[in-house]
Amino acid sequence: MLIGFCFGRVILETFRPSKFSFVRSTTRIFHHSSTMAKSKFEYVRLFETEDRCLPNAWIVVRVDGKGFHKFSTEHDYEKPNDLRALSLMNNAAMSVMEEFKDICLAYGQSDEYSFVFRKETQVYSRRSAKLSTNVCSLFTSAFVYYWSEHFPTSKPLYPPVFDGRTVLYPSNQNIRDYLSWRQADCHINNLYNTTFWALILKAGLTPVEAEQKLKGTLSGDKNEILFSQFSINYNKEPEMLRKGTTLVRRKVPIALPDGGTREKSQIVQLHTDIIGDEFWNENNHLLTIS
Ligand code: GTP
Ligand code: MG
Repeated sequence: MLIGFCFGRVILETFRPSKFSFVRSTTRIFHHSSTMAKSKFEYVRLFETEDRCLPNAWIVVRVDGKGFHKFSTEHDYEKPNDLRALSLMNNAAMSVMEEFKDICLAYGQSDEYSFVFRKETQVYSRRSAKLSTNVCSLFTSAFVYYWSEHFPTSKPLYPPVFDGRTVLYPSNQNIRDYLSWRQADCHINNLYNTTFWALILKAGLTPVEAEQKLKGTLSGDKNEILFSQFSINYNKEPEMLRKGTTLVRRKVPIALPDGGTREKSQIVQLHTDIIGDEFWNENNHLLTIS
């Protein structure tokens, strides 16, 4: 009767009684799961596909806000850049990096963040979906959790959504080119958006007129419009906006009560060029297997 009560008739019929194992306590009787026999339903596990990432390749998980064009408008993000929103994104990314120690570098701009795992990481046995869903889920919940610290006067009007994907890069050149691609994207979009919104907010053009004016222009043309019409030297715009944010771990000295110091690993935010060699020469430990 007890067995029937615990497991139900259908499952009970699929077990051979000799395979049961019970641990008796003073108050209750528990089933010992490690010796639990397989049910006839167990075969459905075989439908799950193996998704381990190739060994020895860089693993990048990128998250990107879903419909943030609309989300940013509905939450009154400042145009073209909202420093509160960008610092919230950085805050959420720091939470991810604090949780996943095998992330050696993260890069973010606009509504996206890329997390680079050490080449030799064994976290979640390198299972692709485990990596992307856990990173994306933590990023999203941290984004909501820290919202009020960055937007103290408003609440999210609806739950924000981020998508997540895992991409592998086999060589050091590939991973550098990937990060260069994201930073170049940041530069292209930011230069465009800065000029576009200057034309609308400062020169009174409509969005359609501003779009028409910028159609076919090269970066030099946009720099010229910004400088001649609005006295904006684009190269003097804040580096966080022009270059995005790079998170890396650095050893920093911590003062001890006895007057000495000890080194502690900390996540630091950089707004620097990661396309050229300088950053990689200064941080060559990032590309070497430890
Ligand atoms: P999907 O990612 O395909 O779902 O579309 P999306 O609407 O999120 O667009 P996408 O990811 O290509 O681009 C992000 C969008 O977020 C930008 O085009 C902007 O509209 C908006 N956005 C991101 N950061 C800011 C910001 O600081 N200020 C403002 N005003 N908008 C921002
Ligand atoms: Mg998006």
